[in-house]
Amino acid sequence: MTTRVLFVCLGNICRSPMAETVMKAIVARNDDDKSWFIDSAGLIDYHEGEQADGRMRSAAFERGYRITSISRPVSKEDFYSFDYIIGMDNANISRLQALCPDDAGVHIVPMTHYCRKYDADTVPDPYYGGRDDFFHVIDLLEDACQGFYDDVKGSM
Ligand code: 4NP
Repeated sequence: MTTRVLFVCLGNICRSPMAETVMKAIVARNDDDKSWFIDSAGLIDYHEGEQADGRMRSAAFERGYRITSISRPVSKEDFYSFDYIIGMDNANISRLQALCPDDAGVHIVPMTHYCRKYDADTVPDPYYGGRDDFFHVIDLLEDACQGFYDDVKGSM
């Protein structure tokens, strides 16, 4: 069985491509690639076709990741083709719930729901922040993605 997860933030150039990259690394480390489909998208199309933000890519690189994702907006089909759509902050979750068709069975969940080490209720938008904010995003995502992975595996 394949678990299909879509990570979503506002622009799909900072947080959600980072989440996609961290999740793919966890799955690869567990030799579990075949049972996952992992993607990311944004709630705005302003950055469509762009690589992730250079500040996010360089923070990722320093932590041993390479982000290759290209920004794309969320589509209606996503609500039918993914098992989980994971949003980074409360505004993302509200918007996703509003866009979700009534007959879609997808689980829309906040990323921080899966945090175990951090007591956080949002993955804060680092776009107008500094270098530390980008590293904080990676810390939160490593914690939450591991929690999500373990949660899915534990329920199988
Ligand atoms: P992200 O960060 O949602 O983590 O990708 C942002 C990227 C772009 C913008 C806002 C947040 N923007 O307003 O263009």
